[in-house]
Amino acid sequence: MNDRITLRRLDDMHCHFRAGSLLKEVLPFTAQYAGRGIAMPNTRPRAILTGKDVVWYQDEIRRALDEMPHRHSFEPLMTIEIRDNTTPQMIAEAYHAGAVAGKVYPLGVTTNSDEGLRNFESESIAETFRAMRDVGMLLLIHGELDRERTLVTKREEVFLPTLLMLAEKFPNMKIVLEHVSTRVAVESVRQLGQNVAATITAHHLCLTLNDVVGYGIQPHHGCMPMPKDFDDRDTLIVAATSGEPKFFLGSDTAPHPREKKECAKGACGVYTAPVLPQVLAEVFEKTGKLDRLEDFSSRFGAEFYGLPLNDGSISLIKSEWVVTEQIGGVVPFRAGAKLQWQLS
Ligand code: NCD
Ligand code: ZN
Repeated sequence: MNDRITLRRLDDMHCHFRAGSLLKEVLPFTAQYAGRGIAMPNTRPRAILTGKDVVWYQDEIRRALDEMPHRHSFEPLMTIEIRDNTTPQMIAEAYHAGAVAGKVYPLGVTTNSDEGLRNFESESIAETFRAMRDVGMLLLIHGELDRERTLVTKREEVFLPTLLMLAEKFPNMKIVLEHVSTRVAVESVRQLGQNVAATITAHHLCLTLNDVVGYGIQPHHGCMPMPKDFDDRDTLIVAATSGEPKFFLGSDTAPHPREKKECAKGACGVYTAPVLPQVLAEVFEKTGKLDRLEDFSSRFGAEFYGLPLNDGSISLIKSEWVVTEQIGGVVPFRAGAKLQWQLS
């Protein structure tokens, strides 16, 4: 039996690092095991919309890295948020400032999407997407639509025709459907061309909707897209462990202060950074596919983004431990629970 595994340093292609004191609190976890992380742009009060914002946020992250007691070779990969008023000029500036991707949040579907994209069909947004394609920026999509008479659990499925439309209209743009949560979404990504891939989170490999609302409301499992049915979760596990390069890690680690989660109208997001490789090892081991973990966590994402693989490695050892109930002001995923693997 394997009781030690070594992995190339991870690429976490979907991270909410936040800003200010929360950034300093959460960044060390990802920096410990990842060589790179995609820094999501939905920060507040300052959202990342322009080249200037990219420079500011990258500096914030670098300063937080410099303040860490242990130096890690970690590089933040920068993004901007694409809104209805994002212009090709803004894309050019963001690209020159170092942004590798643009993120679309459809209006009103998740945390800080109050100014999200309203219209995927406008000529102006098509020009913006063309500008992204021309410089080689990726389009990262939160694939849900908030429609009238559409349950929260159906929002991803309802978005899929838009994904198909975009993939067809921009065959030379790399598109990532972020944090897929349903069987139909996995199947759509499989059927689309090589320019379309998907990220999968650790928590969507673990949770169903029952874990959110089925046994008392569990606010620390509440996230967008909502975890779905058993069949959906099974499909995600198969996709993540399949060795198909279209599916790679994007944890969507999304910390919120405890009081913002444990209240009426709690914030959405699961804070997985403190337990990410450990939880992934458990899931992959349970399916007998531990040997596929490194491709999922440290290869396929880099290859899709067109980046060299990370240098360096991390090791996990099989040794039971109990996850801390609260780290700083935030409750991590699997708080108080036993995990089988530890970072050595
Ligand atoms: C994310 C957050 O908190 O910023 N929340 C979430 O539920 N996943 C935003 C997002 O990625 O949707
Ligand atoms: Zn996210």
